[in-house]
Amino acid sequence: MSDSFYVTTPIYYVNDKPHIGHAYTTVLADVLAGVHRLYGHPTFFLTGTDEHGQKVQDAAAKLGITPQQHADNTVVRFQECWQRLGIRNDDFIRTTQPRHTAIVQEILQDLYDRGEIYRDEYDGWYCVPDERFFTEKDLQDGKCPLCGRPVQRVREANYFFRMSKYQDWLVEYIQNHPDFIQPDFRRNETLGFLRKPLQDLCISRPASRLAWGIPLPFDQDYVTYVWFDALVNYISAIGYRRDDARFESLWPAVHLIGKDILTTHTVYWPTMLKAIGVPMPRTIFAHGWWLNDKTKMSKSLGNVVNPMDMMDRYGVDAFRYFLMAEMTMGQDAAFTEDAFVRRYNADLANDLGNLLNRVLAMTRKYCEGKLPAPEPGAFEAEGAAGELWGIAKQASTAMLASAEAYALQDGIAAVMEAVRATNRYLEARQPWTQAKAADPAPLGTTLYAAAEVLRLAAALLSPVMAEKMTALRVALGLAPDVAAHPTLDELNAVAFLAPGTPVAAPSPLFPRIDAPRPADEAGAPAAKPVKAATPAASPKPAKAESKVPSLPEGVISYETFSQVQLRSAKIMAAEPIEGTAKLLKLNVMMGAERRQIVAGIALYYKPEELIGKTVVVVANLAPIKLRGIESQGMLLAASLGERLRLVTIDGDLASGAIVK
Ligand code: MSP
Repeated sequence: MSDSFYVTTPIYYVNDKPHIGHAYTTVLADVLAGVHRLYGHPTFFLTGTDEHGQKVQDAAAKLGITPQQHADNTVVRFQECWQRLGIRNDDFIRTTQPRHTAIVQEILQDLYDRGEIYRDEYDGWYCVPDERFFTEKDLQDGKCPLCGRPVQRVREANYFFRMSKYQDWLVEYIQNHPDFIQPDFRRNETLGFLRKPLQDLCISRPASRLAWGIPLPFDQDYVTYVWFDALVNYISAIGYRRDDARFESLWPAVHLIGKDILTTHTVYWPTMLKAIGVPMPRTIFAHGWWLNDKTKMSKSLGNVVNPMDMMDRYGVDAFRYFLMAEMTMGQDAAFTEDAFVRRYNADLANDLGNLLNRVLAMTRKYCEGKLPAPEPGAFEAEGAAGELWGIAKQASTAMLASAEAYALQDGIAAVMEAVRATNRYLEARQPWTQAKAADPAPLGTTLYAAAEVLRLAAALLSPVMAEKMTALRVALGLAPDVAAHPTLDELNAVAFLAPGTPVAAPSPLFPRIDAPRPADEAGAPAAKPVKAATPAASPKPAKAESKVPSLPEGVISYETFSQVQLRSAKIMAAEPIEGTAKLLKLNVMMGAERRQIVAGIALYYKPEELIGKTVVVVANLAPIKLRGIESQGMLLAASLGERLRLVTIDGDLASGAIVK
């Protein structure tokens, strides 16, 4: 198996306009590729466009141009958008390119020759917009089960791939390879789908109905079903059947997909690969959707966030950062401008931007604008600088681990934690007081250590925000080409910055965005008692308590109370739980730790209102399962009559703080 990191995005329908969903998958692939490159792994990143099918044919006909012309005109929207978003893909495949169509035809011929594809009469229902066939049983209220639109009765001869014969093999493969489909709940979804008998896959469309496709090599009256054509891009792009050495150096791939295209990627594609004797993809990771008021953003619903608008308003790097930090990989997340502004101001303007400016301003004020030297051994010692450096090194480990575990938000959170630890370090060391002392050495350590953590933090965030992090590193005195290309050696270095180097004048890297605070945060009525929102049971008094005879009934000792660990946590994602009106599933960060909490607050909060709030969690409560979903903690909330409001932290404070 190759040791390369080969990552792909879905190839997008060429006549769509790029929207936030496309942008998310592509930025995610870009950042994962960037992290692997940063750690020195051989990396290859492929994206592209899916150019055949009914929709392209129809759109071209309306415009009076050929489908190829239409594809040529519209593909640039994606190419320009990716360029604008700073995407560093190694290749861009279009399914109309001969390097792809030839491979699809060779695969079809080979499968046909080996009896894996056969001709049969088809009688069933067809959804034109989805280009999918359904049996009578699949339909929902006589309509398409995917989009709810009317379907057409179709009776025609077609070609079928013997997918059904691979059903048992596929179930076993999925069961024996836990990393194959991620996250776990998507793996279970596919296994659930495979509990029903798998049908053979119709892989042709009569050219009389749909001409815009790859002709079947063994019957020119038919073109290839668009999914059978599109999935092959993942291997045609990297030399399958053309350059074995190259193919083997890259395959197997990590396929990033949205949850909407799980079945095609985890059932059709593996069986196709099995039939042609290609090893399985390394991982198929399905991420969640960006939602707008609980519904998926999509062109047909007209509620799409245009990535170009966001970039124009807030800049490319801030937009990329938001996409990566805000969504817990695999879960849905809400996209609101409020959440964007909140996160931008908290993480980028306050924590990171301010830290840089404090370090630059104090270096200019107390050290004539040149980076001071640290005291010898300051980073190895047990003191504050050593401790701080330990946190920074942990962030470096966490970043790679989070990319490998498909939980990038955790790596980013760990880096931001190192940044906040540096702000706390400055508060504790008080360089403004140290500057008055006769001995300049402690001041040198303080400012140098802060600059050094910033240098490493910026290197770790460079896959997310290349431009801004280069600017940050240049401001700390690194040469532009060194600043722009952090290496593994640099990540492993201690005291990489050269003392004596002039630093830049402070200037806001991420200027604060002024936006009104949402109305619901204006202040909840003081309510008593403060109670936990979920689970319903309140923490039982510890056993030892009942042995203390002197306490009046209902009164607990200080010791008992102090056993309850309360910590601040930031809500990163929230979604309703099907089949319940009251429960929400929340994903929260407590410092660098992620928790899933089921809270009975759905009647009082919409999921998207919660995202970004810093709440108080009972952190040492044994996990319990609610509706089969594990809840790893409990939120505090105040309730009075019909109202319930969460206990939140007043003002900016890092998550994970102890509440006492
Ligand atoms: N052409 C097929 C894919 C073929 S891959 C061999 C296709 N294209 S698409 O243009 O519809 O893009 C689908 C992908 O866009 C999703 O899988 C997902 O990656 C992304 N998204 C589209 N809408 C989305 C959201 N609202 N949120 C997040 N991503 C979603 O399907």
